[in-house]
Amino acid sequence: MWVKAIRVHELGDPKVLSWEEVEIGEPNEGEIRIKNKAIGVNYVDIYYRTGLHRAPLPFIPGKEAVGVVSAVGPGVTSFKVGDVVGYADNPMGSYAEEQIIPASVAIPIPPAIDYKTAASVLLKGMTAYVLVRQAFKVQRGHTVLVHAAAGGVGSLLCQWANALGATVIGTVSTEEKAAQATQDGCQHVIVYTMEDFVTRVTEITSGLGVHVVYDAVGKDTFKGSLACLMPRGCMISYGQSSGSRPDPVRLSDLAPKSLILGRPGLMHYTTNRNELLLAASEVFASVMAGVLQVRANHVYLLSEAARAHTDLEARRTSGSIVLVPDSQWL
Ligand SMILES: NC(=O)c1ccc[n+]([C@@H]2O[C@H](COP(=O)([O-])OP(=O)(O)OC[C@H]3O[C@@H](n4cnc5c(N)ncnc54)[C@H](OP(=O)(O)O)[C@@H]3O)[C@@H](O)[C@H]2O)c1
Repeated sequence: MWVKAIRVHELGDPKVLSWEEVEIGEPNEGEIRIKNKAIGVNYVDIYYRTGLHRAPLPFIPGKEAVGVVSAVGPGVTSFKVGDVVGYADNPMGSYAEEQIIPASVAIPIPPAIDYKTAASVLLKGMTAYVLVRQAFKVQRGHTVLVHAAAGGVGSLLCQWANALGATVIGTVSTEEKAAQATQDGCQHVIVYTMEDFVTRVTEITSGLGVHVVYDAVGKDTFKGSLACLMPRGCMISYGQSSGSRPDPVRLSDLAPKSLILGRPGLMHYTTNRNELLLAASEVFASVMAGVLQVRANHVYLLSEAARAHTDLEARRTSGSIVLVPDSQWL
């Protein structure tokens, strides 16, 4: 079967995202084909496009989509044509009108959640779940620092940490993003492009520091994040939007305050179907209970994926970004 898709033949800037016809075949044993209705854009898509993360060329990028099952392969009993499902993280290849995936990674989408909302929250929401409930268990009374608080993951992370009873401090680059972060439960917002966030965190916490920092900005914030932690605090590094250095971390940087450092990835917390469905159900339950407001702030045609990448890299976006296949655009 031939579909329209975005494909990468060489690594580079957003111009390498090529809109073309691609043969995807038919589902084999244990596989299903999904007609994508909404495709989530994640910062990790940029890492693959630029080569920070490696995939064999050519490849179809994208790690998240929601759609309708359009074909099932031999041996599949858990899904039928017409079911609404989503998938996140692996396998890559969601920037396409249709994609074939193993049935074992498909997640049923509750009828109360529409396509765009589901594609905005599945990967980012499960990441937020891992961060606040698994990698570091946020509790009432904790003070939490979240960088890029108005971003896709950041928005959900702040809301979830706030709902768990933490005092949330968020950093953002603009006043507009600061307003969103406040709505998302940040009691304190620092515009880190204008203020020194370490100084501000010290003032806000009266010199005590925070229990945990969630840092996916990386190079520009890592050292300052360590400085914001209280003794025995926990540094959760989960991404590198500003670049991947300062690796390698010097263990001696952790010693003066007995700090704990973690580098969690969603895939290691969704290693089997039970873990995957538990993470997804926690996210969907939080959305349906109103604990998480999902911000599908930016919607682009799939053929315009390059524009979405340009805006995401330029820090012009907040909340989630969704691509809609051109044939599905209403
Ligand atoms: N470990 C995992 O399993 C996992 C899973 C999902 C996502 N992640 C990571 O989580 C992070 C957020 O992902 P996302 O998709 O939700 O993206 P996002 O947060 O919506 O976008 C990235 C944000 O990072 C901030 N930023 C700071 N310095 C930047 C720079 N030099 N260039 C670009 N952005 C910069 C910007 O916010 P300001 O303008 O407010 O600074 C920007 O909006 C990424 O680092 C991603 O790799 C990790």
